Amino acid sequence: MDATLIVWILTALLCVGLLTQAYWEPRLRRRFGGVPLVWYLIGFPVTVCRIRFTWRRLCQNTDLAVVRRPRYTMVGRDVMVRGVALRPIPPRLGVPKINRLGCGLSVRVRLHPGQTPAQFIAATEAIVHAWRVHSVRVISPERGEVLIVAVARDPLVVDQARRMYPAPRFMAAVVGRTGDSSAWVIDLRKIPHWLVVGATQSGKSTLLAALVTHLGAQPVALVGIDCKGGMEFSLFAKRLSALATNRAEALGLLKAMITEAEARMAVCRAAGVRSVWGLDDDERPVPIVVLVDEIAELYLAGATLAGRKEAVECSTALLRLAQLGAALGIHLVVAAQRFGSELGPGATALRAQLGGRICHRVNDEASAEMALGDLSPDAIAVAQAITEDEKGVAVTTIGGHWVRARSMLLTPDNVRQYAARNAHRTPELPHLAAALEAGGESHE
Ligand SMILES: Nc1ncnc2c1ncn2[C@@H]1O[C@H](COP(=O)(O)OP(=O)(O)O)[C@@H](O)[C@H]1O
Ligand SMILES: [Mg+2]
Repeated sequence: MDATLIVWILTALLCVGLLTQAYWEPRLRRRFGGVPLVWYLIGFPVTVCRIRFTWRRLCQNTDLAVVRRPRYTMVGRDVMVRGVALRPIPPRLGVPKINRLGCGLSVRVRLHPGQTPAQFIAATEAIVHAWRVHSVRVISPERGEVLIVAVARDPLVVDQARRMYPAPRFMAAVVGRTGDSSAWVIDLRKIPHWLVVGATQSGKSTLLAALVTHLGAQPVALVGIDCKGGMEFSLFAKRLSALATNRAEALGLLKAMITEAEARMAVCRAAGVRSVWGLDDDERPVPIVVLVDEIAELYLAGATLAGRKEAVECSTALLRLAQLGAALGIHLVVAAQRFGSELGPGATALRAQLGGRICHRVNDEASAEMALGDLSPDAIAVAQAITEDEKGVAVTTIGGHWVRARSMLLTPDNVRQYAARNAHRTPELPHLAAALEAGGESHE
């Protein structure tokens, strides 16, 4: 055949291949939750073969295989021989299943009697190398079994939001991914108040923007306090029911929120329920999430007496709101560079109320300790190890354990668009807007 013809045919085949790939790849990604095709077709089968072929040796080398026969035997009547059995039996391996979120897989392992999950946790480093995956986590969902979850690639690479993940529950939002490639969910029903700590440029405001963008699609009122002149929150101002941009406005807003909380308390008392969640759907007041960026601005006393008084009032109001709010559908999400006793005694008391903790990159150990120390001491070292290049990476606690996670990166345009799209969902809270205005006037 003519050589030119062959070149033409090969070029045509290549073009068809590329077009087919371009057509199918996004569809398959959508169908299979963002897992790249190459992991389905090549990575997963190869890793499964590797797991099968290395399992026996891996278990022998990490002491996970056990021998059924005793380590000694009698020779004749008087001689006992000790030794190691030649073929120890590895624990039974289940069928590996592909992980729907990112490149990964999970496999169940049946424990031998006498084995504990701790032995498998101790062997995770060896498993990572034997299976050639990025990381491995061992959990024990059922007695007598462990589940090994392996992630093939680092899931904490920058994840530019191309689509919004649906909220798993009302008042919950998927704000990024965790280190084992599962969804990072902030669930305000489980933990009502959150503290986000991190140095400047570590990703705090981006995380708040992701949270607002997701909660914005739900019937929730969002209220912002951004005392840096509203620079960060102006992006999604359309979806906010009220936005305070200086301390006087913030104080007015907080006082109005406390009045609102007291009114809700009266409603709950009249209905004989312990929280707004016990009320019927049509009676329940709309949940309010108060977002505070750079909270130190509220606490810094300033030189004047009036400034000092205002700071103390703000601190008291925030603390009261946190104490009352949890049961009344009023939630606080607070971002700070540091959040300790240097801001005043009110800050430490407020921190104790903020049960959810997220710690981005920090400049000193004390800041990490403020965020995570009272929940999980081991997490402090992990938070300190976050580098400057890992923007948006944070350590948070989920179910009593710490995990590394990265928020999804939303561009300012994305945030603005989603806020405009959800603007019609913004509940009208006229008394908050009025309090804001009154606060603003007293400032002038
Ligand atoms: N999850 C993320 N992935 C990648 N880059 C991020 C992420 N979160 C934040 N960034 C980048 O980090 C920079 C600082 O983020 P920002 O949220 O303003 O930090 P902070 O509020 O802590 O000062 C931004 O320019 C943003 O692009
Ligand atoms: Mg910021």
